[in-house]
Amino acid sequence: MKSAETDVAVVVDVLRATSVMTTAFGSGVKRIFTCCQISEAVSLAKQIENTDQGNQRPLLCGERSCKPISGFDHGNSPSEYTPARVRGQTLIMTTTNGTKAIEAASSAKQLIAASFLNLPAVVETLRGSRLVHLICSGTDGQITAEDVLLAGAIIDACTVEYRVTLEDDESRIAQGFWASCLPVSERSPWVSVKNGNEKQLSHLLAKSFGDTLGGANLKNLGFEQDLHRCAQIGTQSAVGVRSQKNPTAFELLASA
Ligand code: MLT
Repeated sequence: MKSAETDVAVVVDVLRATSVMTTAFGSGVKRIFTCCQISEAVSLAKQIENTDQGNQRPLLCGERSCKPISGFDHGNSPSEYTPARVRGQTLIMTTTNGTKAIEAASSAKQLIAASFLNLPAVVETLRGSRLVHLICSGTDGQITAEDVLLAGAIIDACTVEYRVTLEDDESRIAQGFWASCLPVSERSPWVSVKNGNEKQLSHLLAKSFGDTLGGANLKNLGFEQDLHRCAQIGTQSAVGVRSQKNPTAFELLASA
């Protein structure tokens, strides 16, 4: 990644970190701190509790090997992040891959969290950006198809909307993969989304997640419903944007 030149880094962890972040902001979460290590998350929670007395205790959230972390308030299923549970709260989140990808992209000028849920809002946020890097979190150091699909979807949308120039073959491969997974009669899947076919495409997408590395891991642990939850294109308008570094925190993008 050519960090010094990066205008915007878009972090992608479809299953499930950035889908959870999008859902949480959509449910009214105030701020999400992201940490790579469990110990870091726990000590940040203590620090915030000690300094922000009178405020609500931050909620510890995340997973290891897809499972909830012992002693934490919430795991990493979007279904846990309902308005009743999280509205107005501060979250501290640590996940196996997603929060590491956020850290890896830390030198970007602007950092946003993307998912299929907020795809149209992310595309709108990228309007006018000079250089965009898409950071796919993957699974344990390996590429995972659901992240490449979202990268391809963002590229497809930006090509249609802003006539962007693609700088590398990875972008072209991602765009081709997305188009081949979701065959449509229109010029591209994004055009089909714009024509109101997002429900049909979301259904196909959820099915394709079943064959991916990240999707298979979740299915094996009984989180199959999360594949459907994370495949819903454009159901959220919330976009989380990094609001501070050291410690890293995200807030809702003002225009979202
Ligand atoms: C991660 O960050 O590794 C993922 O979000 C994994 C998961 O959701 O279980």
